[in-house]
Amino acid sequence: MKKALMVIESSVREGGTDPIFRIAGEAAKRTKECGAETVINSTIGALMDDNGELVTFKAVYDTLKALPNHLIAGYAGLAGQPDFLEKIIDACFMSCKPEGFIRSIATPGGTGAVRHAFYNYTEFGDTILLTDWFWAPYRTIAHENRRNVKTFQMYNEKGTFNLEAYKKGILELLEKQKRVLTVLNTPAHNPTGYTISDDEWKSIIAFITETALAQPDSKIILLVDLAYIDFAGEGEDARGFMKLLTGLPHNVLPLFAFSASKSYTMYGLRNGAIICVAPTEEIAQEFVNTCTFSNRGSWSNGTRGAMETITKIFSNEELYNQAMAEQSFYKGILKRRAAAFVEEADKIDLGLATYCDGFFISIPCDHPKEVSDNLMKKNTFVVALGKGLRFAPCAVSEEKCRRAPALILQAINEVKKCT
Ligand SMILES: Cc1ncc(COP(=O)(O)O)c(C=O)c1O
Repeated sequence: MKKALMVIESSVREGGTDPIFRIAGEAAKRTKECGAETVINSTIGALMDDNGELVTFKAVYDTLKALPNHLIAGYAGLAGQPDFLEKIIDACFMSCKPEGFIRSIATPGGTGAVRHAFYNYTEFGDTILLTDWFWAPYRTIAHENRRNVKTFQMYNEKGTFNLEAYKKGILELLEKQKRVLTVLNTPAHNPTGYTISDDEWKSIIAFITETALAQPDSKIILLVDLAYIDFAGEGEDARGFMKLLTGLPHNVLPLFAFSASKSYTMYGLRNGAIICVAPTEEIAQEFVNTCTFSNRGSWSNGTRGAMETITKIFSNEELYNQAMAEQSFYKGILKRRAAAFVEEADKIDLGLATYCDGFFISIPCDHPKEVSDNLMKKNTFVVALGKGLRFAPCAVSEEKCRRAPALILQAINEVKKCT
């Protein structure tokens, strides 16, 4: 670690270490040199069409561009615009709203929601429990806010949710801290595409309830990161688990990080919310006061035009149906791409982390960095993670999704021979 010059010791950071941005730059360069046809660029975490262009929903951008200037330029309320705060709850739960005191606070994307949860629901220096395959910025957000992270093995030997490891992780942290915050990024987890089933949720909830009742002085915060929810399951079935998160003991708080980035192709508009399903009015009010203060103390307020756009879409049946039709059309494309990748991987025995839905598929392997470097020589750009590779069907055509598994297996075998 470098020595601090002017920043305080704990703020010294290495520059240029983000592996995704580095490899994405390489992929863009190669595409320019060799043409898009020859390059498989699976580094992008956004939905791209088959020509490599970013998908944008017409319902969203026609609405945004038709807003009068003052509804784009004006400040939003500190907590978010009141009508937006209602509509984002609908966008989050649709017809699967749990019982409880539900409140929302606008945040710049799901990232802002994760930040508020980490900052306000754990102590300085506490450890946050994550799955061992995880979205790397969780660690950045934790460290930025002087928290630590600890992981548990996400998959059991059957390739499903490892409840025993999760239980152990929670009990160990409760013993140390008396308070634990866990992040479950489901459905359609990044980077694996895993979705916790409703039966798995029932077991998780039974354990959380039992633990919370046995340790009434403890506090358990369940942060559910919904970044990919609108690209999971059929219809609203990916939201079925939401209704289960209700009637929990009063020392358990479910929080939801909702993001409009993927769901409404609003990545750069920075729009989302943190939503609580509190067991009491007092806990809900405390959530509102605290997260509103956090907005003021970190970014003041959110993007007004983005909030107005969501409000309009959820207030107008025709617009809403149009937005849902666009979402569903692209969800279909994503499903076909992912199915093509999984089918080809199965044919050649390329082992995958259990994939259900979503933007990413993970391939566990040794020496991921070397395998990713090897693939670059084959004009194939796949992100190296700690435990394997991340392939992004969200960014790659179905035809390329079919070609990629054989190239990946070949690279894994070539690296194996050299190590
Ligand atoms: C797992 C996960 N959570 C949250 C986010 C937050 O995204 P945003 O802040 O753009 O809403 C992302 C974005 O890539 C993600 O992959």
